[in-house]
Amino acid sequence: MMIKVIWVQPDGSEKEALVEEGMNLMDAALEHDIEGVIGECGGSMACATCHVEVDPGCGIPAGDPQPMENEMLDVVEYGRTATSRLSCQLIASPELDGIRLKIPG
Ligand code: FES
Repeated sequence: MMIKVIWVQPDGSEKEALVEEGMNLMDAALEHDIEGVIGECGGSMACATCHVEVDPGCGIPAGDPQPMENEMLDVVEYGRTATSRLSCQLIASPELDGIRLKIPG
């Protein structure tokens, strides 16, 4: 199944893509040239350059970060929000279909 993901830039512009189930949303962002997602550490929760905010308005829960992700989120560049996640830890699945990810900035 393909999962619909929408990325929203700080200026409000949006880009939508269909992502293969099982792919993490940092890799998906790189594949679709999403500005502001860098993924420097390759998805090992060591860089936080894949930080996104799950748009509370999209109705999809941001989920609970694991302890290591949680620690990284405390030091993100643009400040953590209640729905902040490292997108390398969000895995495309049917539950996330239609998720909107705001790029901090
Ligand atoms: S890619 Fe480095 S923490 Fe997600």
